[in-house]
Amino acid sequence: MILDGIKIRDQILAEAKPRVAALPRPPGLAVVLVGEDPASEIYVRNKIKACHDLGIHSEKYTPPPTVTTAELLTLVRQLNQQETVDSILVQMPLPAQVDTAAVLAAIDPRKDADGFHPYNAGLLLAGQPAPRACTPAGVMEILRRCQIPLEGKRAVVVGRSEIVGKPMALMLLEANCTVTLCHSRTRDLAAECRRAEILVAAIGKPAFLTREHISKGAVVIDVGINRITDPAQAERIFGRQERPSTIVGDAHPLHMAELASAYTPVPGGVGPLTIAMLMLNTIQLAERRQA
Ligand code: GUN
Repeated sequence: MILDGIKIRDQILAEAKPRVAALPRPPGLAVVLVGEDPASEIYVRNKIKACHDLGIHSEKYTPPPTVTTAELLTLVRQLNQQETVDSILVQMPLPAQVDTAAVLAAIDPRKDADGFHPYNAGLLLAGQPAPRACTPAGVMEILRRCQIPLEGKRAVVVGRSEIVGKPMALMLLEANCTVTLCHSRTRDLAAECRRAEILVAAIGKPAFLTREHISKGAVVIDVGINRITDPAQAERIFGRQERPSTIVGDAHPLHMAELASAYTPVPGGVGPLTIAMLMLNTIQLAERRQA
């Protein structure tokens, strides 16, 4: 079974529309994009387009790549004060000279679009409601809407990032999975992965999980979005010529399709959900602020 993220995203956005219309004023999302990372530019463009389609007001701020921590803190504090802004998103990653933790901690937790503020991350740890990181929240939404049973299942998450892996492990735990969180120092990664009934790949390396990692019948959730421009690498993965620039996930697409009982394709799996969950977080923050 292919878990169709586009269909689920469309369902979620259709359900969200009346919530936007019911608010006294349109929800407002401020997006801060620093520098010119091409992937980040595409993500931000898609986020702003989703806002537009849903009737959410959006504002984009694009400080130069040389921006200092102090300048970003000033911008964030200004957005915290701005009445028409319900939700603030600072696109990751930030340039090396910027203190990312300080910027995230400066966002008003009541306007935290991504759930990256330590207070909201702490509420997730405590099992309490809070805005949640969009990508792992989107994965949970796919699993729920596709009625994949989670209770008591062995779930293995590969990748321990603050944005995906760590919150993903907590959300699966909350859903009563038995969770293993693997990372670059894990010994015998393939053996750990083969024990998974639910396998979540959030590594950031193209086609990294292969048939040695995936046991027959596992549910595989591929969070990776990797662009491949080397035709030889594409041919090694797909066994045939591909377009000059191809998107591939963290799991080997052919091995995953062969072994998994259900899986998210790349593109068209988890990606669309990240944006849908950002819209839901923004609407919820607006509902709280405008109540
Ligand atoms: N960079 C990659 N994914 C995300 C995300 O979900 N939110 C933000 N702010 N930056 C990201």
